[in-house]
Amino acid sequence: MKKFSNWALLAVAFGAVAFTSCSKDDDSPAPTPSIYERLGGTTMVADPDNPGQMIEQGRLSYRKVVNTTVGLIVADVQANASGNLGAHFAPILSEVGAGNTTNLAILVDNLTDFFSFNTGGTNAVNTYTGLDMVTAHNPSLNPRMGTTSTNADYTKFVGYVGAAAQQNGVAANTELYTDIVAVLESLRDPIVQ
Ligand code: HEM
Repeated sequence: MKKFSNWALLAVAFGAVAFTSCSKDDDSPAPTPSIYERLGGTTMVADPDNPGQMIEQGRLSYRKVVNTTVGLIVADVQANASGNLGAHFAPILSEVGAGNTTNLAILVDNLTDFFSFNTGGTNAVNTYTGLDMVTAHNPSLNPRMGTTSTNADYTKFVGYVGAAAQQNGVAANTELYTDIVAVLESLRDPIVQ
């Protein structure tokens, strides 16, 4: 009888373990937060560029990355006067060279919307209303696109966005960085035409 009880106990214990591990298997893993959330999400913070205004941290993170990217592209164009990035951005660069930054500000805003909107930013302020990526990067449909992008130009561009992300605190060896680069790579086909 004593022996039977031991087996019974063992069976109950095994059942408990099996049940526990079974219920563990049924727990679906917590979904990975969106890139927007991981960049700070909807937490409201003071907008460093607009005193007295607040901004979502996720949008602010993207705006910083976009602004740094613009700086890296301008530096590239200046260092390689005959290089290829300058040819694509010829219209906007000539405006900025003449002291007119209106369209640059619109582009920064559109790019910030585009990235925020497509990676989990749901606030209406993030809604992207610009051209789709095929139209925006086809010079015959968008006169602001100087020439079509080659694969090499695209790789260079993505490298600058990656460098800008790193300069704004996204370390290169993190899952977040890899996820951002994957989003950029997913746009290569529509943009390189
Ligand atoms: C991750 C890759 C890229 C993304 C997400 C992106 C996104 C955008 C967006 C959202 C716009 C604004 C469209 C509008 O105003 O309606 C734009 C415009 C433009 N893009 Fe891209 N782009 C990318 C790569 C490139 C590359 C590789 C080039 C050239 C080498 C390029 C050249 C341009 C130019 C010249 C414009 C027009 C700028 C202006 O308004 O003066 N883009 N892009």
